[in-house]
Amino acid sequence: MPSPTKNLLVSDRTLIKSIKGTLLVMARPLFRFLKPVPTALLEPISRRWGFERGTPISRWYIDRFLESNKKDITGNVLEIKNARYTNSLGTNVTLSDILDIDKSNTSATIYADLATADNVESEKYDCFILTETLQFVYDLDSAIAHAHRVLKPNGVLLVSVPCVSPSDDELMSVDHWRFTTLGCEKLFGNVFGSNNTQVVGYGNYAVSAGMLSGLAIEDIPEEKLDMYDGKYTTGIFIRAQRK
Ligand SMILES: C[S@@+](CC[C@H](N)C(=O)[O-])C[C@H]1O[C@@H](n2cnc3c(N)ncnc32)[C@H](O)[C@@H]1O
Repeated sequence: MPSPTKNLLVSDRTLIKSIKGTLLVMARPLFRFLKPVPTALLEPISRRWGFERGTPISRWYIDRFLESNKKDITGNVLEIKNARYTNSLGTNVTLSDILDIDKSNTSATIYADLATADNVESEKYDCFILTETLQFVYDLDSAIAHAHRVLKPNGVLLVSVPCVSPSDDELMSVDHWRFTTLGCEKLFGNVFGSNNTQVVGYGNYAVSAGMLSGLAIEDIPEEKLDMYDGKYTTGIFIRAQRK
């Protein structure tokens, strides 16, 4: 049976389309009335990553990512800011270095900007734990090239970067980036080789909305925690091995 609109002129179709569009625009207040926005969505519940409510969401995922790659945390290990994961997950650690750009960090053993880190010895580390830092480095290509250079052959880089995250109050002046899985595949694959680079996203709408709202991991229903929805990626992990 022929469609009733089959013989309409192009100008008739355009007219019908524009009438439909106008009706939809006119109905918008009705949609807002039928599905009002909960006021809780309009302000964050916590501006401190939910610290006061429980475990910050990103930290829970980072802990699990590093736990699942803990066999890589061995030998000479480099970490940013502190030796949190070197100490808690490392085995047979022969050297624990801590890098920071921040000279007031008295735990640091190396002061360097990762983008210009020529003062860090080449091929020194078996593992570089680079969590929650690359968003603060403007020249990502250079930072990743340095991360590759300081690793020994077969050395492993373990990275976490945010996709959806509020800014850190103290680091807002250097907060340059949020990431996508595709961007990370290119950034790290170009330096380490795509065969030596694994990129995985985590999160979904509930987890990303929770990140922005300042929910704690304990606020997220358990069945949502391991569900990944790439449309609403919350954060990304990269494991890259120097060959
Ligand atoms: C949010 S902390 C993350 C540290 C830790 N690895 C973690 O997982 O919590 C970010 C750290 O990166 C440092 N940082 C910022 N920009 C940097 C740069 N260009 N080079 C090296 N470190 C930098 C900051 O001083 C800070 O210690």
